[in-house]
Amino acid sequence: MKKVNIALLGLGTVGGGTYDILTKNRDIILERTGVDYEITHIFEKYATQLEKHGAPLSLQTLDIDSIIESDDVDVIVECLGGMDFPVSVMTRALKNGISVVTPNKAAVAANYDMLHSAAEEGHAYLKFEAAVGGGIPILTTIQEQLAGNHFTDIMGILNGTTNYILTKMLKQGQKYEDALSDAKKNGFAEPDPTADVEGIDCANKLCLLMVLAMGKYVNPQQIPTKGITDVTMEDIQAAYNRGCVIKLIAHASLTDDGFEYYVKPEEIPLDHPLASVSNEFNAIYLDGDAVGELMFYGKGAGALPTGSAIVGDIIAIMKGLQNE
Ligand code: HSE
Repeated sequence: MKKVNIALLGLGTVGGGTYDILTKNRDIILERTGVDYEITHIFEKYATQLEKHGAPLSLQTLDIDSIIESDDVDVIVECLGGMDFPVSVMTRALKNGISVVTPNKAAVAANYDMLHSAAEEGHAYLKFEAAVGGGIPILTTIQEQLAGNHFTDIMGILNGTTNYILTKMLKQGQKYEDALSDAKKNGFAEPDPTADVEGIDCANKLCLLMVLAMGKYVNPQQIPTKGITDVTMEDIQAAYNRGCVIKLIAHASLTDDGFEYYVKPEEIPLDHPLASVSNEFNAIYLDGDAVGELMFYGKGAGALPTGSAIVGDIIAIMKGLQNE
């Protein structure tokens, strides 16, 4: 098996976390996969970002075509964020037979069929475990270990930023703006946090969960969505006095009576398992006809948890390439 060549696109919070894991845990990854790998390109504007992670400056490039059209790049890790440019890059790479790993839920949710068609055309892998639940390995688990189940219910706290803000407002009486500013500093929030606080990020993640667990694709824009911008300190305190916490909940239910889905702030009783999910942690509840009820819990945002999911996808691709 030849060495697998990896191009990292973007060395911000998540790209940086991915680089750190790939370099720090190299021995353990080699031992577990039996496949050698090398980071051959880092598409990143700021040399300071490479310096921050101890990456050789010789890897820095801004020539995207030389990566996408290369016969030597096996895997692209897209950590650019945004929509048009990364979608174009991922589509071209996949069609050219280069596998893609991305945490970009907005891009994958809005272009689900097109990106999968491109992967099929190029006989390449498209993986996006990090797009939902940060470090929680939920998408792979649904597609592999739980693939024999018909799912009727999905309920989750899917956004680390809003859960962090709501937790800080309740537990420390912190102002919304201050908690959001901390979430940005900690690398939980998107560069433009509008998608976080308006619930759009949750809708993108719910879209991916619904299509993979229930086989139903709904464009995220069609998911009724309300964020937390209207939630006041008074609302949070009043809910607490009623024995509840306010959480931004994403919910999908597929029954004989119909298919319902939404994202909105809800009052959760304090004795409910989701009530104790705090700060940037996420949790996903699933009900499968065979397995029954399941809960998954872990860090839903941040450099290393999200990087962990990306590295897991890279490893799966390396193993897949090895078996071809
Ligand atoms: N901004 C996202 C969040 C990052 O806060 O959950 C992880 O998807």
